[in-house]
Amino acid sequence: MRAPVRWGVAGTGRVAAHFARDLGHAPGAERAAVSSRDAARARAFAAEHGFARAHEGVAALAEDAGVDVVYLAGVNTSHYADARCCLERGRPVVVEKPFTMDAREAGALADLARERGVFLMEGMWSRFFPAMEQARVWIQDGRIGAVRSVRADIGHAVPYDPANRLFDPALGGGALLDLGVYALSLVSWCGDATPRDVAAWPRMNEAGTDSACAWALGWTDGRLASGLCAVDQHLSREAVLYGERGRIIFPDAFWRPVRVALHRDGREPELFEGAPPGRGFAWEAAHVMDCLRAGFTESPIMPLRESVAVMRLLDRLRAAWPLSPPRAAG
Ligand SMILES: NC(=O)c1ccc[n+]([C@@H]2O[C@H](COP(=O)([O-])OP(=O)(O)OC[C@H]3O[C@@H](n4cnc5c(N)ncnc54)[C@H](OP(=O)(O)O)[C@@H]3O)[C@@H](O)[C@H]2O)c1
Repeated sequence: MRAPVRWGVAGTGRVAAHFARDLGHAPGAERAAVSSRDAARARAFAAEHGFARAHEGVAALAEDAGVDVVYLAGVNTSHYADARCCLERGRPVVVEKPFTMDAREAGALADLARERGVFLMEGMWSRFFPAMEQARVWIQDGRIGAVRSVRADIGHAVPYDPANRLFDPALGGGALLDLGVYALSLVSWCGDATPRDVAAWPRMNEAGTDSACAWALGWTDGRLASGLCAVDQHLSREAVLYGERGRIIFPDAFWRPVRVALHRDGREPELFEGAPPGRGFAWEAAHVMDCLRAGFTESPIMPLRESVAVMRLLDRLRAAWPLSPPRAAG
């Protein structure tokens, strides 16, 4: 029997709860401790989800010797400081997406983790779904030839509320940062996140973040990628990887892909389906535990260089944006 891996969860929000529940589907995962900015909230979360201990603040969680790895599920603007806090205390850490607010923060975290020899990974859970692995095998086997273009849309209709973290700049709001990052990480997964040309058109809101964004990328060798992301309307949720001889389609919710289809000219499509136990975080947790047991300080599936490159790409896309919301016509 392998020793259990003792998880700490920082944050008591929606995703922290999903992750906590899904640890029950990851054999060998133990719910050790939780932290919140508010001690009573941490205690309530611990009681509800079966964690042994509750702490006030991430530092106390990172200093808990009974925690092997911390999962950071705080708002986007908290990721950098909280990850730093864990790394400085030698505590392995998984950081929810988006990894950080910008490439400067991402690079600093990656440097610190490497310097200290401590495990650090962006929690880009999509990568650990079996449908992604199936797509990787189809691509590696040359079933569609080289991927020449990528298209990925992601959007939810959330009522506008400047205090909601999806809109509030102080909490890391914005469609591109919060949702577009899934599409850009998929683009990176398909090849690289360093296109020659980038363009992005935001639909700004009164809070000063983008409620929606259209983006396009072009590489020197002719590869292309584009997509829409939105927190103010439902979009198709589909991603398509266009190859030289066919295409791979994630028909729904490509960021948590349960189904994937291989379409090749003149042939019946091949379908793969892999529904998760629970929400889908157990696969990511299992991968992290494998990495820790193997003594890795980085994930081979979600490496730091990719997380940093994706943040750099987000910086480039946002660089040309207007600084204020559009004015009403007339
Ligand atoms: N992988 C996925 O599928 C997925 C889906 C949605 C979101 N996410 C990511 O997961 C993270 C959490 O998202 P969520 O939807 O769970 O958000 P949420 O429900 O608003 O929870 C965020 C938590 O962050 C903590 N927090 C720290 N500083 C805060 C501040 N200044 N204001 C408000 N809360 C603060 C709060 O916990 P305490 O007050 O207890 O400290 C809060 O419960 C985000 O980074 C998001 O991008 C991932």
